[in-house]
Amino acid sequence: MEAVVVRQAAKRYGTQVALDGLDLTVATGQVVAVLGPNGAGKTTLLEVLEGLRDLDQGEARVLGLDVRRDRRKLKERIGVSLQATAFFDRLTLRETLRLYGSFYRRGMPLTELLNWVGLSAQADARIVQLSGGQQQRAALALALVNNPDLVFLDEPTTGLDPGARQSIWKLVREMRRGGRTVVLSTHYMEEATALADHVVVVDQGRVLAEGTVPELVTAYGGDASLEVAGEGLEYLAEPPYGFAAKGGRWIRSSSSPPADTARILESVQHHGARLSHLAILPASLETVFLRLTGRELS
Ligand SMILES: Nc1ncnc2c1ncn2[C@@H]1O[C@H](COP(=O)(O)OP(=O)(O)OP(=O)(O)O)[C@@H](O)[C@H]1O
Ligand SMILES: [Mg+2]
Repeated sequence: MEAVVVRQAAKRYGTQVALDGLDLTVATGQVVAVLGPNGAGKTTLLEVLEGLRDLDQGEARVLGLDVRRDRRKLKERIGVSLQATAFFDRLTLRETLRLYGSFYRRGMPLTELLNWVGLSAQADARIVQLSGGQQQRAALALALVNNPDLVFLDEPTTGLDPGARQSIWKLVREMRRGGRTVVLSTHYMEEATALADHVVVVDQGRVLAEGTVPELVTAYGGDASLEVAGEGLEYLAEPPYGFAAKGGRWIRSSSSPPADTARILESVQHHGARLSHLAILPASLETVFLRLTGRELS
């Protein structure tokens, strides 16, 4: 069964359109990344699925339950980490987990949760005493207090350093390994690429494209790029090469990188130039996003 089914979801705040006929299906057991710029409608979508906001039109089902009519049943089976987690600053981590756990019939042992997020040593620290990365991990522990089948994570790594981001990624992968479905929002390409089985590109309340990262790159990524640097390479700006100077390097797109690379190496010899760098940059999710929306993310 599908974990999430959204049909023609529409939501506006006054005249501001947040969801504009959005369709989405999420397969059970997958990590799905909803990728989009600020204001795309990601939080609105997630909060509709969490039963926290109502749609104006359309339909949303999660784990086979109608998000509006079956809200109580749904709450027991989903885990939620909001974009900004409002902790009770004066409570310790242990007290916070216990409090949240008391809201549900289902549960997980506290020691297991603390151990899982690597915060056993911080169990009796107040939330305010935790670093940003530790608080994000605490938010993941909170999302799992009821041992949910499906977890919604709204920008789980925004503002974290690369190390802290990696540790969150590891936890998300463990959620999937444990058989949970994870729907997360992000505006980091690397995050979607690293984590997601399925990427949904949204902007202006609509799905622009979706698929695995390789599928998206094949369909919308366009050509790879060639990048070279060195001395005496100015001739590359001229036909037939057509490179452009960028940040001290020379770059151009290439539909057949191996053949083009061979040709360039030959020309370097011929011109008596010197190469210090040569790279083939495959099309990426970044290229996909640029082509779909015409703008850069974050
Ligand atoms: N409570 C609200 N009242 C009025 N407008 C809102 C409200 N919440 C969201 N919006 C508007 O709806 C649109 C979608 O917002 P949403 O928060 O869903 O985007 P987002 O993709 O989560 O963005 P971000 O990446 O910045 O978190 C935006 O134009 C936003 O200004
Ligand atoms: Mg948001």
